[in-house]
Amino acid sequence: MKILVTGGAGFIGSHVVDAYIREGHQVYVIDNLSTGDKTYLHKKACFIEMDIRDNKNIQDLFMVEKFDLVNHHAAQMDVRLAVEEPVFDAEVNILGSLNLLQASIASGVKKFIFISSGGAVYGEIDDKELPAEEIHAINPISPYGVSKHVVEHYLYLYHQVYSLNYTVLRYGNVYGERQGKTGEAGVLSIFIRQMLNHKPVRIFGSGEQLRDYIYVGDVVRANLFVSNFNPFDKPISHFVDPIFNIGTGKGSSVNEIYLILKNLLQSDLPPIYEPARKGEILKTYIDCGKAAKYFNWNSEVSLTEGIEKTLQWFKTNLS
Ligand SMILES: NC(=O)c1ccc[n+]([C@@H]2O[C@H](COP(=O)([O-])OP(=O)(O)OC[C@H]3O[C@@H](n4cnc5c(N)ncnc54)[C@H](O)[C@@H]3O)[C@@H](O)[C@H]2O)c1
Repeated sequence: MKILVTGGAGFIGSHVVDAYIREGHQVYVIDNLSTGDKTYLHKKACFIEMDIRDNKNIQDLFMVEKFDLVNHHAAQMDVRLAVEEPVFDAEVNILGSLNLLQASIASGVKKFIFISSGGAVYGEIDDKELPAEEIHAINPISPYGVSKHVVEHYLYLYHQVYSLNYTVLRYGNVYGERQGKTGEAGVLSIFIRQMLNHKPVRIFGSGEQLRDYIYVGDVVRANLFVSNFNPFDKPISHFVDPIFNIGTGKGSSVNEIYLILKNLLQSDLPPIYEPARKGEILKTYIDCGKAAKYFNWNSEVSLTEGIEKTLQWFKTNLS
C-alpha cells in the first residue's frame, strides 16, 4: 500500500513508519518538525517537510500522490500549551485534521486512521467506571481533549456523507524509545533524564495519580492490525463503531514509575514532592476489551519491561 504517516518524524509516528516499511509498504511522511526529529525517520520513507495547516500544499500533495491509507499522528499534543493557547491547539488539531480529511475525500484515500487520546477525551473518571470503556461519557477538561474528540465527530460525518472508511485509536499514555518530554507519558522521560544526570525528580501532588502507561511497541502493533481492518465491512447488525482504546486496562502511579526507575538505576536520591498541579486528572485508565474482541490485540509488554527498554535507549542516546 502507499501510506502517508503524518507526524512520522515524531516519537510514536516514527515507530509506526518503521513497522509499515518492515511490512513492505511504500511510506510517505509529512511533518513540520516542530517536535519531531529528522534522525528518527526511516531512510526508506519519503519525507516531505510540510505543515498540516498548509491547506493548499496538502490538497496538491494528495492529488499527486493518491495515498491508499492515511495514518494521522501529527498533532499539537502538549496539554499545558493547549490550555495556554487553545486557538493554536484547535488550528493544528482540528483545522489541520480537516485539511487532511478534505484532501482524503478529494483524492480517493481508502482508509483514514486517526490518533485520539484515551487519557484526555474522557476527563475525570468515576472509580466505579474504571477502566473506562469507549462508551464512557466524553467530558474532556483540556482544549487538547476537546480538539481530539471534535475530529472523532468529523470522521463519523465523513463516513456518513462520503463513505470514508476510518478507525480511531484512543491511546493511553504512550512511553518508549524516542519519547520526548511533553507527551502524555512525558513524566517517564523527564524522570529518566533527571535520574541519569543524578538529579532528584519532582513529583507533583501525592504521586498517586493513576495513568494507563502503554509501551510504544504495543501501540505500533495496534496500528498494523487496524490498517487491514475495515469495521464497516460487516453486516449492519454487526456494525462496529470504529473507536478503540489502546492501553493496558491498568492504572499505574507516578510513585510506581519512580520506584521502578530507582530500582533499575539503583538510585538513592529521594524524590521532591511539590504541590499538585491545578486541573490535573487524578485517575484515568482505559478498558481495551473491544480491541481484543475485534482484532485480537492486547498489550504484551509489562511496565517494568517497557521501562527497562526505554531506559536502555536513553542511556545510549542521551547526550
Ligand atoms: N504520547 C502519548 O502518550 C500520546 C497519548 C495519546 C495520544 N497521542 C497522540 O499520538 C500522536 C503522536 O504523539 P507523539 O507522542 O508521538 O508526539 P510527537 O510530538 O513526538 O509527535 C507529533 C509529530 O507531529 C509533528 N507535528 C506537530 N504539529 C504539526 C503540524 N502542524 N504539521 C505537521 N506536523 C506536525 C511534530 O513535529 C511531531 O513529529 C499525537 O496525535 C498525539 O496526540 C499521544
